[in-house]
Amino acid sequence: MSSKLLYVGLVGSLLTGVTVAQSSEQHPSLLTWKCTTSGGCVQQNTSVVLDKDSKYAQGSAGSRTADDYAAMGVSTSGDAVTMYHYVQSGGALNPASPRIYLLGEDGKYVLMSLLNQELSVDVDYSAVPCGENGAFYLSEMEADGGGSSGGAAAGQGYCDAQCQGFCCNEMDILEANAKATAMTPHPCTGNSCDKSGCGYNPYASGQRNFWATGGTVDTSKPFTVVTQFVGSGTLTQITRTYIQNGKQSNSGAISSCNGAFGGLAGMGQALGRGMVLAMSIWNDAAQSMSWLDAGNNGPCNLAESTPSAIQSQHPDTHVTFSNIRWGDIGSTTKG
Ligand SMILES: *[C@@H]1O[C@H](CO)[C@@H](O)[C@H](O)[C@H]1NC(C)=O
Repeated sequence: MSSKLLYVGLVGSLLTGVTVAQSSEQHPSLLTWKCTTSGGCVQQNTSVVLDKDSKYAQGSAGSRTADDYAAMGVSTSGDAVTMYHYVQSGGALNPASPRIYLLGEDGKYVLMSLLNQELSVDVDYSAVPCGENGAFYLSEMEADGGGSSGGAAAGQGYCDAQCQGFCCNEMDILEANAKATAMTPHPCTGNSCDKSGCGYNPYASGQRNFWATGGTVDTSKPFTVVTQFVGSGTLTQITRTYIQNGKQSNSGAISSCNGAFGGLAGMGQALGRGMVLAMSIWNDAAQSMSWLDAGNNGPCNLAESTPSAIQSQHPDTHVTFSNIRWGDIGSTTKG
């Protein structure tokens, strides 16, 4: 063996090592569809990536496997993703509370440009009890996740209107469990965000048996949720339609939002630029999610909604999102 050959071999394996370190994270495939009125829906070869701060990312960005995703409560099948709040590890039940983002084939987050467009998703909230939040929402993250430390492919670059990570526009399509739901724009002007947002919760608006077990929208079974961001140039209204067993129900138009933070127009600009789809399941030690589902907001009580009560009474807590489609108004629910 000549030393030259040895040198080439070494460089080769070093390069291979670098390549593996950047691309070995196995992102579970989650098929989605992008739709137009003229062309119908085209399947997208998207996948999901766990946030960098999830347990298996610590110090090992870019090396998570499908098993790690399952260990963190995340599994996909076709166009469906299921997230478990609790997972078995070391012979005990532990909180995983995963948060994931939609990743494109190019290794960057999918930027959904949704001004004058719609987004639909099939949901199953039947195993999401009081005090839990199965969230399906948009944050204005950078497509490359900020670029450093593995970027989007390593789950970098999270931001939201609570200024976790950093401050950015957030549109909560669904924050929900089987008993209550809210749809909430959270626009920001620079680092000043509308942290409360201008949400719509059917229960709080007097529709007490709308989103409920056995309700108009029966949360014990799956259904489709369609959200439309209406307005060409300027967002003027966000509307919500539910479809279950072929029956359509409307509930939840939002047509104004706190102007001090940019209002609905500011939210619309962010939607026009493109936002990243985030999904999570979590509970709330501080407020037991009462802002979502207790008192005037829903039928839940604080005692049943603490993290410890949920863990002992509902260890199987999980949410499924599937059949994610976005595109022209009216195009995602055809056929
Ligand atoms: C998805 O992958 C399939 C198989 O590789 C390919 O034929 C198709 O064009 C891809 N879809 C998109 C939208 O890139």
